[in-house]
Amino acid sequence: MRLLFVGDVVGRPGRNILEDQLPKLKQKYRPQVTIVNGENAASGKGITEKIYKNILGFGAQVVTLGNHTWAKNEIFSFINEETNLIRPLNYPPGAPGRGQTSLNVNGVELVVINAMGRTFLEAIDCPFQALDKAVDDAKKRTPFVFVDFHGEATSEKQAMGWFLDGRASAVIGTHTHVQTADERVLPGGTAYLTDVGMTGPYDGILGVDKDVVLKKFQTSLPAKFEIAKGRSQLNAVFMEFDDKTGKARKIERLLINDDHPIVE
Ligand SMILES: [Fe+2]
Repeated sequence: MRLLFVGDVVGRPGRNILEDQLPKLKQKYRPQVTIVNGENAASGKGITEKIYKNILGFGAQVVTLGNHTWAKNEIFSFINEETNLIRPLNYPPGAPGRGQTSLNVNGVELVVINAMGRTFLEAIDCPFQALDKAVDDAKKRTPFVFVDFHGEATSEKQAMGWFLDGRASAVIGTHTHVQTADERVLPGGTAYLTDVGMTGPYDGILGVDKDVVLKKFQTSLPAKFEIAKGRSQLNAVFMEFDDKTGKARKIERLLINDDHPIVE
């Protein structure tokens, strides 16, 4: 099974480069499944129904979320109906929406799970307990399990990689918006990357206008964040899982910006 996962789409610049580049990436890598983290897709925080559907229209099958899941009020009006829009599994019981979804990929089931770390983030339920159960339940049905682990701390994300090694086909980190260079297949067969990076402005600070952030650092005064203008980038990761065992055979980071060639 071939799977492409695109890192946190930020605002309109992220949506535009996704629309422009995803068809080229799909032509080159031929993924059977494309998953996009869209938790920053609507003006940097959260997602709207229209944007969710646009991302599906660009060629994704699943959109994952994170700590900004509830940022746009309208999420509450559509998240329950959209089975392929998933928010962190470890929100307390009763949260709207779902933390996982199942896809039929050429006759086999792929389970996609979104979970969130709680180091330097909201103290929601334990992601280790939640994923332990969810991955074990999924494995009773299929060897193909993909986890987007949205976290701030590298250590917590590495810990989750080792925790699920040999059980999930992949554990890929999101949230920090800077791609890490530690892609590997762990000894048990789990593809791992601490952070896939961000799809959006290239010349800002994590996608935000750099002048606003600079001023905030220098003055410690409140500042209204705006999406950076100018050049854009796309960050993603491509993986191949063994068709029988679900174990990862390959993981490749994709970094597309003016300093790294655009796929043509
Ligand atoms: Fe985030």
